[in-house]
Amino acid sequence: MAHSGKSPRLLRFLVPAVLVFFVTATLYFSVGSHATAALLSHSDLAHPPLVPRKIWQILLPMPASVEAKGISLSDAETWLNKNPGYTYTLLGAEGADSFIKLHYSDRPEVLDTFNALENPAMRSDFLRYLVLLKEGGVYSDIDTEAVRPVEHWIPEKYRSRAKILAGIEWDQQGGPPSSYFTYPLQLGQWTIASSPGHPILERMVDNCVRLSQKKAGENTSPGSALHFTDSEIVNTTGPAAWTRTVWEAIQDVAPNMKSIEALSGLQHPTLFGDILVLPINSFGSGQPHSGSWKYFPHPDTLIKHKFKGSWRTMPWWESSS
Ligand SMILES: *[C@@H]1O[C@H](CO)[C@@H](O)[C@H](O)[C@H]1NC(C)=O
Repeated sequence: MAHSGKSPRLLRFLVPAVLVFFVTATLYFSVGSHATAALLSHSDLAHPPLVPRKIWQILLPMPASVEAKGISLSDAETWLNKNPGYTYTLLGAEGADSFIKLHYSDRPEVLDTFNALENPAMRSDFLRYLVLLKEGGVYSDIDTEAVRPVEHWIPEKYRSRAKILAGIEWDQQGGPPSSYFTYPLQLGQWTIASSPGHPILERMVDNCVRLSQKKAGENTSPGSALHFTDSEIVNTTGPAAWTRTVWEAIQDVAPNMKSIEALSGLQHPTLFGDILVLPINSFGSGQPHSGSWKYFPHPDTLIKHKFKGSWRTMPWWESSS
């Protein structure tokens, strides 16, 4: 009798205990996520972000020599993990084709240009400008690791004004010029954040179309793929073109800045009109130059670029040629 009475007593204790556990756990997680949602919508109301909550990456077919090394998508996961609630799109060849046909049907020269470009790095450059111009969001190369959630990239005081973000990738700091860089300070385009329709992106797209058409005009066999040299690539779709275009837009709003070297040694994210320029460590920490913090990560670090880049297989400072 004493024994048979024990089990129901144990059950009477266990059942509520298990229930309490589940109810507590459920409450804990739902309150937790509501608290996060409340926090986000509060800051939404105060400063709606002008950069849409979208992440874009690009993976176009590469030459066989690059494909043979194996292209890893392991860093792509960091973008998903760090930015829950953001849309994430990885554009491949077919995706790029559909995107351009959908969004640039009124400008057939855009698809013609994209298809005519021979170098996949150049196509990838062109495509990132096309995507951000129409949709906005964050573009980042496939060999970058997300370090800080995009939600926290723009300082609170600039959140209602910053429409495009450009990070310093090279800063000569008054030292000797480098044969790798056109300007004493270069802005990187391996990561760009922007609102849709930004005039800087419009200019990048227009220039690329114009210079490709010019190149096509010089082609001896019409309709053949457009071949650009490495320095032409850098100066047409790449970081030199990007740097020049952003710098011209900065000068429009800050005519007192006479040279791009005025940005040298920049310590904090700084707004020029709606252009937010980020210091070296935001997108370029861990590099052995430019005053970059060698020991990744620096507190300012937003992303880490791993330089597994497809058209230059090594960081330039490690390559002998
Ligand atoms: C780079 O492009 C700009 C603008 O198209 C041009 O003025 C400049 O001469 C070019 N520089 C080089 C080194 O090709």
